[in-house]
Amino acid sequence: MAELCGIELAHPVINASGTYDAIAARRVFGDALLEDFPFSAFVSKTITEEPRAGNAPRRIWETPSGMLNSIGLPNKGLAGFLAEDLPLLAELPVPLIVSAMASSREGFARLVEAVAAREEVAAIELNVSCPNVHSGLIVGEQPTETEALLRALRPLTAKPLIVKLTPNVADSAAVALAAEEGGADAVSLINTLKGGAIDPGSGEPALAAGHGGLSGPAVRPVALHQVRAVRAAVGVPLVGMGGIRCGADAAEFLAAGAAVVAVGTESFRDPRAGARVAAELEKARIRGVAA
Ligand SMILES: Cc1cc2nc3c(=O)[nH]c(=O)nc-3n(C[C@H](O)[C@H](O)[C@H](O)COP(=O)(O)O)c2cc1C
Repeated sequence: MAELCGIELAHPVINASGTYDAIAARRVFGDALLEDFPFSAFVSKTITEEPRAGNAPRRIWETPSGMLNSIGLPNKGLAGFLAEDLPLLAELPVPLIVSAMASSREGFARLVEAVAAREEVAAIELNVSCPNVHSGLIVGEQPTETEALLRALRPLTAKPLIVKLTPNVADSAAVALAAEEGGADAVSLINTLKGGAIDPGSGEPALAAGHGGLSGPAVRPVALHQVRAVRAAVGVPLVGMGGIRCGADAAEFLAAGAAVVAVGTESFRDPRAGARVAAELEKARIRGVAA
């Protein structure tokens, strides 16, 4: 068992936003997926107010021990999500966390109000790796912007607000502290690291967007360092992620101070990774008790 902001979880392994399409998985695996869902909570792909097509291809590029993506948040927008996806996600046998992003406080407020009003939603994750149209600053790169956003959103719902931190800052603990002071209930980290690659065939950037976000085992030491630093700075629970492939990797995050871990890129290789990581963690725990 595990717990996140008062939400009871069957085990401490959830999915990282945008890396597991539960609706597509159900189409492939049928209702067997519901009987044996790999994660103890489901975090949706980040939604925005308006529909987005995402970036032009190529949007994925493999790197040593990781991958770059510049998917660009394709999604149906708030209305499409509420009408089409939410009813299907509500059938999952685990609590639902909706990830949301906007380019203004008002936009975030509209998303939070609309999503929090739905009883199927247990918590909201705020993806703050985006520029504020008013200031031009990436919200999650600035403690002052992050705190102001949380102060604006906190009165809108009693449901847990989880702030997803970007690792692309000098001091993620300062941003986490600002989120906590603004009223966040939990912090999740890390989002992808900024990165790029050149296609050796063309000599041009491998991704059409020019650059992307690095994920997978290559980022794990960075993620672990940031989880430890954030743990030392804040009291709220942490969701740790970044390159988790197995129970031993997840155990590192728990030892570094995460209450719960999320599996992302590994689910592309093994769609059952969440369940496997949870089982490996449990085995290690039993061995630890027996030793
Ligand atoms: C293809 C892809 C899509 C992603 N989409 C989102 C997203 O919509 N929202 C978000 O907050 N993070 C998104 N992420 C970041 C992951 O949730 C996670 O923070 C990151 O990949 C690190 O974990 P990992 O190394 O286990 O993948 C995405 C990552 C990948 C690889």
